Amino acid sequence: MSLAWRKAPRTGRLASAGPGRVRARRDHTVSRPAPGPRLSSADIARVQAAAEEFLLLFQTETHPAGSIEPRIAAVLREIERTGTYWHTPEELTFGARVAWRNNARCIGRLYWHSLQVRDLRAVSDAGAVATHCFDHLRTAHNGGKIRPMISIFAPETPTRPAPRIWNEQLIRYAGYDLPDGLVVGDPRYRGFTSELIQRGWQPPDRPGSFDVLPLVVETVEEGPQLFQLPGSAVHEVALEHPELAWFADLGLRWHAVPVISNNRLVIGGVSYPAAPFNGWYMGTEIGARNLGDSDRYALVPEVAARMGLDTSNEATLWRDRALIELNRAVLHSFQANGVSITDHHTESRRFLIHLEREERAGRKCPADWTWIVPPVSGSQTPVFHRHYDLEDQVPNFFADPDASRRGLHGGPPAFR
Ligand code: ARG
Repeated sequence: MSLAWRKAPRTGRLASAGPGRVRARRDHTVSRPAPGPRLSSADIARVQAAAEEFLLLFQTETHPAGSIEPRIAAVLREIERTGTYWHTPEELTFGARVAWRNNARCIGRLYWHSLQVRDLRAVSDAGAVATHCFDHLRTAHNGGKIRPMISIFAPETPTRPAPRIWNEQLIRYAGYDLPDGLVVGDPRYRGFTSELIQRGWQPPDRPGSFDVLPLVVETVEEGPQLFQLPGSAVHEVALEHPELAWFADLGLRWHAVPVISNNRLVIGGVSYPAAPFNGWYMGTEIGARNLGDSDRYALVPEVAARMGLDTSNEATLWRDRALIELNRAVLHSFQANGVSITDHHTESRRFLIHLEREERAGRKCPADWTWIVPPVSGSQTPVFHRHYDLEDQVPNFFADPDASRRGLHGGPPAFR
């Protein structure tokens, strides 16, 4: 689609801040793009085809006895007139759940049908998007019994682009480059962090390893806006080890709820670029990848040293042994704090149950082996020993290159 949006005014750097707001919204008259669809007939036909395909799927799975023809006819007319259409709440919920079900990278799809959908399509200004994201974090955390949930904000339309959330997840930790070449915090977000500092974010006086980054919400009218997360929205687990008492002294922690916030949800030809969603963690995501990867917190050498392992020779498998204890600490700490988490053995078995069920339902279940197989003890899990269909299906979530860039580098903005 080539839609020429009018350039949004770049927001100035204002010093004054309202409650929870890092940078005040600029006082301006809203200049929306001129109304009226500007889609080519090929674009219209593409949206219509996607809509029809989705509505047929919706009918087959939810109302097999009913007739979807009148609904399809109405939607096709609506697209002809406006370039888009409005999902019914039922279609929206079904579409979001199926997007999860179709997501080839996710091992946790057995519970796809339990996804709670917050219909926030009427919400499109930056401040309101941020506030609802914070509510999402609180509601999804649910006192530790994490609820899989998605918040769907205003869709992309030919007359108005949807809001964008820049952050990869609602909660991410800052990474700071120190003058001596060391990094404090999460190295993955060094670029994002320094860009937000340029944009006016004030990090804590003493940079810490787990400073929660502000949320960046961009709209065409307001430009990128920064919002500090309220403490009530950020639940974290301090990490300790079931046997190694010194582990707690490392001062490690991780946030309880992973809410991916820069993927575009696509349902029946309609795009929802702001649709943050969460499940609960599998321990290896934190213990093996976030804390273990050498370009993340890279804690394996430190844990090995504290364990007193012989690190002079790779063949002692000190890396593997330290990594396992890191992972035990994550699972133990979440469980001890009553926060939902799963281990990779359990989750692998559940995934195979999911595959069986999908097969029985006569559906294909796309899966990406390189993502499904856990990063530790792969061959000890049943998901290792087979292959999968890898064919994109919609509805789905998509990681657009420009959104990925914003999530890592803090720009460039979507609307300029
Ligand atoms: N791997 C990401 C992280 O460590 C989270 C991705 C989503 N994970 C999930 N269990 N829903 O933060």
